[in-house]
Amino acid sequence: MNYKVAVIPGDGIGPEIVREARKVLDKVGQKYGHEFTYQELLMGGCSIDAYGEPLTEETLEAAKASDSVLLGAVGGNVGQSNWYQLPPDKRPEAGLLKIRKGLELYANIRPAVLFDELSGACPLKPELTEGGFDFVVMRELTGGLYFGDRKTVEENGVKKAIDTLTYDENEIRRIAKWGFDVAMKRGKKVCSVDKANVLDSSRLWRSVVAKDYPEVELTHMLVDNCAMQLVRDPKQFDVILTENMFGDILSDEASMVTGSIGMLSSASLGATKLGLYEPSHGSAPDLAGQDKANPIATILSAAMMLRYSFDLEKEADAIENAVKQVLKDGYRTIDIMDEGKTQVGTIQMGDLIAERI
Ligand code: IPM
Ligand code: MG
Repeated sequence: MNYKVAVIPGDGIGPEIVREARKVLDKVGQKYGHEFTYQELLMGGCSIDAYGEPLTEETLEAAKASDSVLLGAVGGNVGQSNWYQLPPDKRPEAGLLKIRKGLELYANIRPAVLFDELSGACPLKPELTEGGFDFVVMRELTGGLYFGDRKTVEENGVKKAIDTLTYDENEIRRIAKWGFDVAMKRGKKVCSVDKANVLDSSRLWRSVVAKDYPEVELTHMLVDNCAMQLVRDPKQFDVILTENMFGDILSDEASMVTGSIGMLSSASLGATKLGLYEPSHGSAPDLAGQDKANPIATILSAAMMLRYSFDLEKEADAIENAVKQVLKDGYRTIDIMDEGKTQVGTIQMGDLIAERI
């Protein structure tokens, strides 16, 4: 089988980590008899430099025509880069929002797993995390505050900024379905997170996230409580189902309790098999070009691509097992380095994982 993968290396460490993910995919292809063909596309700061905008229509069309999209990271140093002198809708991150919306990728799955081998990196007390934890944040990705009308006006000499938070019941229903479907394949628990004590959009959310899955245990939690519960008892969660902005914030918190944002993958999906796969971390411009970045989040995102877009389950397992094996064998990039382990760079980490496929 031939799979057409649109590859968007992006900015900062993006190109280096995507290169390692391709290396691993190619090894999977060789071993299991698949062919991955790649089309490289520009998005983010590099696209601004080349075309004056973070995502051109041509690039979006090319992504639409692919079987799935593998993304590194976009963006630069806000204080330093000229990209941030541009109006907000011309900055690197606008490209990311445009591709999510343009491909209608409304379901963002961000796993938070405490790997046994890295339990020492978790900042929580060992008794809170004993036995590890494994949950996902299911974040709505194309609605809410991110895509509502916004403007800044001046009234009587006073500047005023307005952002609007909108959800309709169809948008809520379709992301809830994703949450329940994923829960069915995992621990069969959904915790829907909102701010229903204040927001109308949350009250609608809570009423729509109904219980049509008798096998799944559904609970509701307020977002402020959830932020606390994530550091108090992360083991209680299986699927956290939430709207765009809350999901953005909670997924960063979730990554921190695993102790290693360099390990966390993500998948963005919609109504079709076409998905966008990217690490949960950013472009880390200060690390770029030094062979220091951890490629594992991107490699694990490629595994999610095999699983969700191509239905290649055993191939996805092969990547995940290779990653676990490398950790077991004691290799670490600098961000997860620990006493008695062997420190390796980005390229060697990719080689070691590819070797274990
Ligand atoms: C993320 C990022 C983006 C978001 C930014 C870069 C626009 O933080 O993917 O979580 O807020 O969605
Ligand atoms: Mg974020």
